[in-house]
Amino acid sequence: MTQKIAVLPGDGIGPEIVAEALKVIDCLNQDFGLALETEAALIGGAAYDVHGTPFPEATLALARAADSVLLGAVGGPKWEPLNYALRPERGLLGLRAELELFANLRPALLYPQLEAASTLRPEVVSGLDIVIIRELTGGIYFGQPRGRRVNDKGEREGFNTLIYSESEIRRIAHIGFQTAQKRNKRLCSVDKANVLECTELWREIMIEVGQEYPDVALSHMYVDNAAMQLVRAPKQFDVMVTDNMFGDILSDCAAMLTGSIGMLPSASLDKNGKGMYEPIHGSAPDISGKGVANPIATVLSLAMMLRYSFDDAASADRIEQAVTAALDAGYRTADIHSEGTRKVGTAEMGDAIVAALRASR
Ligand code: NAD
Ligand code: IPM
Ligand code: MN
Repeated sequence: MTQKIAVLPGDGIGPEIVAEALKVIDCLNQDFGLALETEAALIGGAAYDVHGTPFPEATLALARAADSVLLGAVGGPKWEPLNYALRPERGLLGLRAELELFANLRPALLYPQLEAASTLRPEVVSGLDIVIIRELTGGIYFGQPRGRRVNDKGEREGFNTLIYSESEIRRIAHIGFQTAQKRNKRLCSVDKANVLECTELWREIMIEVGQEYPDVALSHMYVDNAAMQLVRAPKQFDVMVTDNMFGDILSDCAAMLTGSIGMLPSASLDKNGKGMYEPIHGSAPDISGKGVANPIATVLSLAMMLRYSFDDAASADRIEQAVTAALDAGYRTADIHSEGTRKVGTAEMGDAIVAALRASR
């Protein structure tokens, strides 16, 4: 059956890393009999430059019509002077909101070949395999009121609202418990219940929903401690579930445990399992256009797409094994390079993965 993928490369390194995932798609079609059809559209700054909006109607329509979405990254210094409504990031946030992609799965897995690439000692990170589940369509990112104003004293103020409804917390809690059920049955909910009413409610709901999952051990941690524990002893975690902003921050932190932010894929799912797949990193303006970005997070995001949206675990496994094989063969982009390995650019890494994939036929 043909599966249609909306491809949104975006800005900065976005097009460079997405090009490598497209090579993998071609290989799956040619050598493994898959029927993945792609259609590209503009998002973010690239869309603003052409259409005057980071989130064109046509892009949303394509994403809705497709079976799945693959996104690169959005944003960059060029568009920073724009007001918020026109910033590239609004395109991404708009897609998440419009498609109701409330469940963001961010697995952090350390490939054994990359132990030397982590900034942490091998014994702290070796064998690391955790999943951060980030609520993606609520919280302070979307709460109203928000904005800028001048107060009575004539001073400028900025304000945002942290708000979650019970149902929003409940549905992400279920995703957390169900994910933990399929793994080591430990779920750590991360909040700031000692200070914020909103996350006090978060904790209450986690406990309530937990009663439906007696086989999962639920624990709670304040976010400041969680950030510290992630660096101190990350293997204590199995699945973490947290709100939109905490999840954003903690997943970048977890990325570094695996050697590089260029390694972490993500799936953003709606209630039916339809999803958007993207690396967790951004458009990396400091290296964009140089052909040195690590495409692995994007390739692994494609694997997640096959696993979660297309129910094709075999192809997902195959892609992940091809990544392993490329690492085994010594290929490293600059961000994961260490002594004794072979430093390559974005395209060479993509080619190495495709070669390994093809060889696995
Ligand atoms: P970033 O993730 O783009 O980059 C942070 C650092 O990590 C940089 O040094 C970068 O070179 C490096 N890096 C990131 N991805 C890499 C890769 N694949 N290979 C090698 N190195 C990589 O974060 P930032 O610099 O804070 O943000 C830059 C822009 O990206 C901003 O406009 C931001 O809003 C946007 N952003 C977008 C997304 C997204 O589209 N999902 C995510 C994060 C940031
Ligand atoms: C991410 C990014 C986005 C976020 C930005 C670009 C809107 O940092 O996907 O992690 O904060 O969610
Ligand atoms: Mn982020």
